[in-house]
Amino acid sequence: LNNGLARQPPMGWSSWNAYKCDISEDIIKGNADRLIELGLRDLGYQYVVVDDCWQERNGRDESGRIITNNKTFPSGIKPLSHYMHSHGLRFGIYSDAGKQTCQGRPGGLGYEDIDARTYAQWGVDFVKYDNCWNGFLPYLDRYGAMRDALNRTGRLMVYSTCEKHSNPWEWGADMSNQWRIGVDLFDTWESLVRVADDGIGIAHFSGPGGWNDFDLLQVGNGGMQFQEYRAQFAVWSIVKSPLMISTDLFKISPRDLSTLKARELIAVNQDPLAIAGDVVRQQGPDIVYGGPLADGSRAAVMWNRRWHFNWPLNDCEHPSGNGTSSTPGLCGPLSVGRNMTLRFEWLGGGSENRWPNAEHFHSDTRALVRDLYEEGDLG
Ligand code: DGJ
Repeated sequence: LNNGLARQPPMGWSSWNAYKCDISEDIIKGNADRLIELGLRDLGYQYVVVDDCWQERNGRDESGRIITNNKTFPSGIKPLSHYMHSHGLRFGIYSDAGKQTCQGRPGGLGYEDIDARTYAQWGVDFVKYDNCWNGFLPYLDRYGAMRDALNRTGRLMVYSTCEKHSNPWEWGADMSNQWRIGVDLFDTWESLVRVADDGIGIAHFSGPGGWNDFDLLQVGNGGMQFQEYRAQFAVWSIVKSPLMISTDLFKISPRDLSTLKARELIAVNQDPLAIAGDVVRQQGPDIVYGGPLADGSRAAVMWNRRWHFNWPLNDCEHPSGNGTSSTPGLCGPLSVGRNMTLRFEWLGGGSENRWPNAEHFHSDTRALVRDLYEEGDLG
């Protein structure tokens, strides 16, 4: 959407994956404080987004204005937004292009103008607009109504849409700043592979102002191995998905935190050239992403997914080098780098965040990336 925003993929934190409906102003503020203390804000994670359930269940007053749940958000939304601004952060909120949100709170359909004005008065910087209870009304009308209402307020707000079933990348660029490309990402390896696969071949629809949104990060939530979370982070970075942390920042492990703080990957995601990477080669279960960068080099992510495809386990190499693994993801590491200074050592492995050496990556995949590079095929 050509509103001057999101020239690079938005980065931030969202309440949904970790907290679902169990949110409160203290939880949101607390996680915002943690973003700052942990150094994440200064790496670019800027938007703090309250997802579903901040609203009262039957929450509209006589004038149609939305009512905040005053038990969980007793100070109201405006002070929360102010809190973010006074801490160098931006503030986001959630609604839905239907009669109700997915969790049964009041939706925005038919209330676009009053809601957009309310958000503007509250100092909202980001609006996520979901797709539940939509009465099967045309999505272009429903999403267009909120886009236009936001525009009429005169306040600049990143607009994030969630219609997932109609090739949203084909109409997203005129509609929003980011559009969900598929089903919800759950905290499992299977779900990660599925969402990543849904995003193959659509990178060229992304660009400054409008991005394919692969969904919130699951990094830190405990359902996957830390190497698998690194796979998510590396893939999301190179395809230039928004990078929205969605974990409890009071509980995150040092290893998962180091994943979210990987400067080299954040730099790929936020690269000024802003051209999304895509899959450049699939060879059996191995998959290689490539894409150009502003300095003329190429970023590459190689993702060894042998475990997922049930290849014989001895085709995988365990990070500890003992050649066996029965754990998903331990056979699914990946690497990332610019040109051929591929940083095989960045991801995974024994100590804090280093593989012992590059040899632990499957040799076919390494050879493949070298070939792609030499043939000039890395995106
Ligand atoms: C479905 C969306 O895909 C999720 O990201 C989250 O916003 C929930 N709805 C909230 O109900």
